[in-house]
Amino acid sequence: MLIYNIGMLAGILPEGVGRLRGADIGRLESLTDAWLLVRDGRIADFGTMDTCPSREGADDIDARRGIVLPAFCDCHTHLVYAGSREGEFRDKIAGMSYAEIAARGGGILNSARRLAEATEDDLYEESLRRLRQICASGTGVVEIKTGYGLTLDSELKMLRVIARLREAVPQMAIRATFLGAHAVGPDYTGRQEAYVDHVIDDMLPAVAAQGVADYVDVFCERGFFTAGQTSRILQAGRSHGLLPRLHADQLLRSGGTATGIAAGALSVDHLEAAGPDEIALLAASDTIGVGLPGASFFLSDPYAPLNDIIAAGGTVALASDYNPGTSPSGSMLFVWALGCIKMRLTPEAALNAATINGATALGLQADYGSVTRGKRASLNIFDAPSLAFIPYAYTTPTLVATVR
Ligand code: NIG
Ligand code: FE
Repeated sequence: MLIYNIGMLAGILPEGVGRLRGADIGRLESLTDAWLLVRDGRIADFGTMDTCPSREGADDIDARRGIVLPAFCDCHTHLVYAGSREGEFRDKIAGMSYAEIAARGGGILNSARRLAEATEDDLYEESLRRLRQICASGTGVVEIKTGYGLTLDSELKMLRVIARLREAVPQMAIRATFLGAHAVGPDYTGRQEAYVDHVIDDMLPAVAAQGVADYVDVFCERGFFTAGQTSRILQAGRSHGLLPRLHADQLLRSGGTATGIAAGALSVDHLEAAGPDEIALLAASDTIGVGLPGASFFLSDPYAPLNDIIAAGGTVALASDYNPGTSPSGSMLFVWALGCIKMRLTPEAALNAATINGATALGLQADYGSVTRGKRASLNIFDAPSLAFIPYAYTTPTLVATVR
């Protein structure tokens, strides 16, 4: 299949380049007047129109001078959930904070109740709708967390749903993260240490034996799990072959970044409350700092200091945090725009954060995240006069086609 008449083909990287660290994130290599050839779902070759191969057939795509970019790689979502939480949306409008809503049994526990009541088939169907919708809106790679189960049965139910999503949408790459320590489970109210033991002694072995999860995650935050509990869980996860990633320093500075880096986490995510210490730690490590501007926007919270992490020489990514409580949107186009508007990343840096560095945060950089010969042809085609127009005109429907 040939894509021809491309106005701008951007996000080109040489083979073997994964993360874009520090100032490198601002570089975006491109060709004007280009073509790209897809063979067996992979990028076989690309070049400028003066070297365009002859048309292949009915599947060929006339890009009509559009902009072709790598599909978004969303490395942090909670898109398997039951129902929605617009009641809490009203509470928030009336002035309650996320922490207040959570403390009175709303928040994550509200979603856990709904998930426990939902049949596995219903949970699968509504999650599949969300997955298809983000695929159509530009996402090619997605990580999905558990964490609305909070009992062994419900956590395994979530993982089975993720496995079914993988089968149903094989054109996307889907990674699964076990987040049993998202909140203290309903059977353990007031017994936090016992719940941590349950996660480590009962849940982790069963989750690992089931074989769906790739990663382990913890919500390291006051009112949820301490840094000490977090490192115990991450280490136990590692011993079961699950690599750590982490919810860190979201509402308050809670030692999450340091804990995650010490545990060798692939990424530490949120960082709204990160300060100079966290920035320096990230700059000196391979752990990727993931900003989730959709959650900052929804909660009217500060934005993670991604430019400071970049300036210090660290690696950053952008993700949606798609979830019913703090980011009810999986739109990576909106995330790209927020990265520019609110975090003041350049359009190029924000795009790289949402593509190649997101893929790297999931260990998928060999196959996704850039225009590179041999990688999967996971691409988006935009109708826009320039690259910056896409995040600038963030409600204009510039995305005109997807290739997966
Ligand atoms: O990433 N911070 C913790 N977890 C989610 C919110 C989950 C929820 O409220 O349902 C987040 O923001
Ligand atoms: Fe999250």
